[in-house]
Amino acid sequence: MRTPIVAGNWKMNKTVEEARSLVFSMSLGLREIKGVEKVLCPPFPALLAVSALLQGTDIGLGAQNLHWEEKGAFTGEVAPAMVAEFCQYVIIGHSERRAYFGETDQTVNQKVHAALAHDLTPIVCVGETVKEYESGRTGEIVRRQISLGLAGVDPAKAAGLVVAYEPIWAIGTGKASSGENANAVLADYIRPVLAELFGVETAQAIRIQYGGSVTAANAEEFFSQPDIDGALVGGASLKKDEFVAIARAASKS
Ligand code: PGA
Repeated sequence: MRTPIVAGNWKMNKTVEEARSLVFSMSLGLREIKGVEKVLCPPFPALLAVSALLQGTDIGLGAQNLHWEEKGAFTGEVAPAMVAEFCQYVIIGHSERRAYFGETDQTVNQKVHAALAHDLTPIVCVGETVKEYESGRTGEIVRRQISLGLAGVDPAKAAGLVVAYEPIWAIGTGKASSGENANAVLADYIRPVLAELFGVETAQAIRIQYGGSVTAANAEEFFSQPDIDGALVGGASLKKDEFVAIARAASKS
């Protein structure tokens, strides 16, 4: 049995003050939900403040990115040890980072190795564009992203990975995939390629989230699918009631 994991990707939203009040408003509701791993991923400047608020709770903290080098002349970047000071999780290879900041399967791979070396749980994002979807290339794309992004990962550590399947056409568009369609991508392509890399047993242990326009209204449709183990939530994670309801839906799955 895999424990579902629901993570809120706040993207470039919330000042420290705003982050504090959002966490304050949702933490009680989240703490009441059991049987689900709950994770908040605020922007870097808010990590310190949010980590203080989450002390002593069962709510995890994640960063939205990290650099793979330990330290040095990398202006504007954040090293794995700096992330690990506050966080247990880190989102890697989000499609916005791939599209706007030049991330590739190779840099994703370097970041995954760096995160694991610092005992961070990587949430590795994969997903196809609308063009790739329409031309029937979803399987090919996600298989490539997984096999290159996770290349060389120690199979003994792989069970702790989290993969987020996020079709790009569903992110921030209000046009979520259907539960069935998303589950088929996980079952037909993602878990099989994980099995090729790490063996069947480990592939069965790896949590795979769905992401892309998940809301309180559609969460159950995803969580009732056998291969979907939670969600990576963007827009709806900024709304207290929505995010708590999504986490609650996962606890019932
Ligand atoms: P969305 O974003 O829920 O706003 O579609 C999901 C994501 O980008 O992780």
